[in-house]
Amino acid sequence: MATKQSVDLKAADKLLKQFAKVVNSDHAVRKIKKDEVLSCGVDLGTSSIVLTVLDKDDNIIYGAFEYAKAVRDGIVVNYVDSVNILKRLKHKAEDVLGVELTTACGAIPPGTGEGAAKIVANVIESAELECKHVVDEPTAAARFLNLKTGTVVDIGGGTTGISVFNHGKLTQVLDEATGGFHMTLVLAGNHKIKSDDAELLKRDPQKEPEVFPVIRPVVEKMATIVKDSVGPSVKQPVVVVGGAINFKEFIPAFSKVLGIPAYKTAFPQFITPLGIAMYDHD
Ligand SMILES: Nc1ncnc2c1ncn2[C@@H]1O[C@H](COP(=O)(O)OP(=O)(O)OP(=O)(O)O)[C@@H](O)[C@H]1O
Ligand SMILES: [Mg+2]
Repeated sequence: MATKQSVDLKAADKLLKQFAKVVNSDHAVRKIKKDEVLSCGVDLGTSSIVLTVLDKDDNIIYGAFEYAKAVRDGIVVNYVDSVNILKRLKHKAEDVLGVELTTACGAIPPGTGEGAAKIVANVIESAELECKHVVDEPTAAARFLNLKTGTVVDIGGGTTGISVFNHGKLTQVLDEATGGFHMTLVLAGNHKIKSDDAELLKRDPQKEPEVFPVIRPVVEKMATIVKDSVGPSVKQPVVVVGGAINFKEFIPAFSKVLGIPAYKTAFPQFITPLGIAMYDHD
């Protein structure tokens, strides 16, 4: 049976912490040469649009994001906003790096089809980047984690995506419309507050002791989805990614219902965006 050792979470942690230091800052990890070719990833998410920049050896260079409501459940619902946000992110990155970004890759939730991939490619091209590939989000996450056999559960703003990999092959995929937004709704209902206020409360790490018991049933539902859908065919290790899992208590609660250990890294919301950029030089 595969164990924790088959994915190097410490290495991933180190890179994610490095990325978190430069994202949305006015500096890059290092100086860029004038003619240097960089790789670029674009993650059009339900909660934010993220741009990641790597060098040709997949070293982290820079990143930027904006919170946005231009995408719902992985599908672009506001084309113009998506393009404008991406243009802003690109220009900001170019100012910091001192070079022009020319190509990029994008991603879609698995099973959303050719149409969705075309829209993502069009957004990228409208922001004056040549779109090299549009890949599956969980496959991008697995690439960043260097996970060949195992299960990736991506819990973003709008969806929980589950992908099972066996020796580098995607063997099972499932997408369910439960994400961090549902945690926010439960918290808003429980506290009788607006969802924007609930969102701020949810993200405040100091408030976790008060927040987590309220959203625990949503976490347990997510684990039940994984257990019931992939059940006996689940491949270990199970690595959970995405912004919605940013609670100390998340993994213990999730693993308990799942019945097997699950693992996470620091800054799990940046795993998929970083993995997307790795396809830009393929
Ligand atoms: N510190 C935090 N604590 C709790 N939840 C958080 C935190 N930071 C982000 N989130 C939640 O994570 C979710 C966004 O995660 P992520 O950035 O992975 O989503 P996305 O890629 O935009 O969405 P999707 O993949 O569903 O299209 C939101 O629901 C947000 O509220
Ligand atoms: Mg996402």
